[in-house]
Amino acid sequence: MTAQLIDGTAIAQKVRNEVKEKVAKRIAEGKPQPGLATVLVGDRIDSATYVSMKQKACAELGMTSFHHPLPADVSQEELEDLIRKLNADPKVHGILVQLPLPAHLDEERVLSLISIEKDVDGFSPLNLGRLAQKGREPLFVPCTPYGCIYLLKEAGVQIAGANAVVLGRSNIVGMPAALLLIKENATVTVVHSKTKDIPAVLRNADIIIAAIGRAQMVRGDWIKPGAAVIDVGINGVPVLDANGNPVINEKTGKPKQKLVGDVNFEEAKEVAGFITPVPGGVGPMTIAMLMANTLRAAEIQDK
Ligand code: GUN
Repeated sequence: MTAQLIDGTAIAQKVRNEVKEKVAKRIAEGKPQPGLATVLVGDRIDSATYVSMKQKACAELGMTSFHHPLPADVSQEELEDLIRKLNADPKVHGILVQLPLPAHLDEERVLSLISIEKDVDGFSPLNLGRLAQKGREPLFVPCTPYGCIYLLKEAGVQIAGANAVVLGRSNIVGMPAALLLIKENATVTVVHSKTKDIPAVLRNADIIIAAIGRAQMVRGDWIKPGAAVIDVGINGVPVLDANGNPVINEKTGKPKQKLVGDVNFEEAKEVAGFITPVPGGVGPMTIAMLMANTLRAAEIQDK
């Protein structure tokens, strides 16, 4: 292995400890306890798991969370009414609407409605617009891309002047990650499903942020020796035995699954200079940065 492992679990814990200390200090000073409202529409298991991890993190760091589960068939009006109520509630400093929303809901309208000062996900058009513009700063940066850049900086990777390639152009990760890298003075290429010769584009990258949602897509020989590889992917794949057959879980009778990223880790770690594991890389950072954003929201609202 040539690559230095970037330990997202340890770095996220450091961020969480810093947030916890600052929260305790502000409460000791008589300032309000930071509060995060979480809105979960429907019963997607992955979304419910992420939201419950966010609530748990709030409790651990001394913040309040207000959970608002809504049925999958909630109307646009009901959801918008809830957002207006949360915007007006002084105990709520941050509002998080877990995505994706069911198809009948207008996500853009919902995100636009969140007060910019409470937009701890950084998904409102105002925050994203500021992220995209020179000389302007958003109040909040989307949590996963923020975590990716934080990991690069903690590892001591030079971003300014680097050739950075972002795989994927989602609103949640790829696009804001590209904007953030531009702000950090990298030269940025965004790779997507219509890109020609993706391996050739990646071979020129000093920094790769992989957020395309395809298990182990990035092969070792696509990576420039010494590059920093940040793997955002979380993909379930079957566990195989020595003969290549799926291993069955004795309790459930179903094939056993394991989590892998968008990068073939075993190959990439022999070529890259820095690499994040999956799990234990970007994943823990998303929640840590949400906690940092929620504290920041409370601080902005003190004024
Ligand atoms: N769905 C997947 N990632 C995220 C995230 O960071 N925030 C929200 N609100 N929804 C998500």
